[in-house]
Amino acid sequence: MPGERPFLPYGRHFIEDDDIEAVTDVLRGEFLTTGPVVDAFENKLAEVTGARHVVSCSSGTAALHLTASALDLGPGDWAIVPAMTFLATANAARYVGADVIFADVDAETGLMTSETFEAARATAMGSVKAVYPVHINGQTANMAAIRQVAGDMPIVEDACHALGGVHKAANGEWVPVGSCAYSEMSIFSFHPVKTVAMGEGGAVTTNDDHLAERLRRHRNIGMNRNPETIENAGQAFDTSGEINPWYYEMPELGLNYRASAVHCALGLNQLGKLERFVGIRNRLVERYAEALAPLAAVVRMLPKSADCEAAWHLCVVLIDFDAAGTDRAQVMKALAARNIGTQVHYLPVNRQPYYQRLYGETTLPGADAYYEKILSLPLQVSMTDEDVEYVAAMLGEVLGGGG
Ligand SMILES: Cc1ncc(COP(=O)(O)O)c(C=O)c1O
Repeated sequence: MPGERPFLPYGRHFIEDDDIEAVTDVLRGEFLTTGPVVDAFENKLAEVTGARHVVSCSSGTAALHLTASALDLGPGDWAIVPAMTFLATANAARYVGADVIFADVDAETGLMTSETFEAARATAMGSVKAVYPVHINGQTANMAAIRQVAGDMPIVEDACHALGGVHKAANGEWVPVGSCAYSEMSIFSFHPVKTVAMGEGGAVTTNDDHLAERLRRHRNIGMNRNPETIENAGQAFDTSGEINPWYYEMPELGLNYRASAVHCALGLNQLGKLERFVGIRNRLVERYAEALAPLAAVVRMLPKSADCEAAWHLCVVLIDFDAAGTDRAQVMKALAARNIGTQVHYLPVNRQPYYQRLYGETTLPGADAYYEKILSLPLQVSMTDEDVEYVAAMLGEVLGGGG
């Protein structure tokens, strides 16, 4: 009954005793930052995704910024970003002085398609240097089709929502999200609402050795210690030709975007549970589909993409608020009064004042239509079937019994 149940946020981390032990072990050990636990985290993510290189960092936003600088995006360049994403995907281009073209998305799935990408590219007024498909909610964009349209243009997948999923390759095989089978880089966030939590944390995956080296350098203030790429040999090497023990040089500017061992210990331990977490989340979404079936006149589950097996990060439903005779704010407040947290992912980023000031008011019909009807219902590993049934029943109640 309302008031008696603990509040159910739309998303939340799931921490067990062994996660706490993993973190306290690091606190008792030698390395609080760069060291064996950070390496182990990167190796584990490489195993999960199948990518050759993993560069951990301090957040998904930092990961996105690193990709933009590793690709040398800058003033005069344009990057294509779907309008339906978190702010940080678009901001990555702006951090390095590049501009953003917002691509429209499918009105039912929220995903950028090869067609909306192509349409966005056709509006470019300058050189389009990169595209950032976003695997929103846990479903992936059709990467094979996007690669075909992109040609040689670098692709960076924002895979923050889709860790643990697989998508279909052109030959029909399934490839892990983050494997970069069709992209130069993929990025992840390990914010607590994501499937795997680090507190704050992120990572970039890539199969490209050169990009990996630049990502690592930009993550670490721009410092280089690699004897093979040292520029100033005169001051770097001793008389025997070995690099001086104190030596590092800075060929370009970087930031401190390193992930600490404390965060990586949590991330590493949680990565070991990825399959279980994805299984629970996917099963809860199936349970929602059953429990919401009686509300079909006004509430629909997101259509499933044939291009992937989702790892659901969010449980977004499509609601016809007009048909139910209400609006989204009323529904969210009424659910909150029943101890149910909901959210909207997302206001199309082109509608943010910052971007409207830069590029004027732009209309993207697919993103607008998707935005009008979405609501993210609670989805977290600790939820039970009974929680799902409660949410579905309360949603039915606040929507007036189904329309
Ligand atoms: C799609 C997407 N991109 C980027 C980010 C940024 O990640 P972080 O919050 O770790 O900076 C997030 C996380 O909120 C996200 O959902």
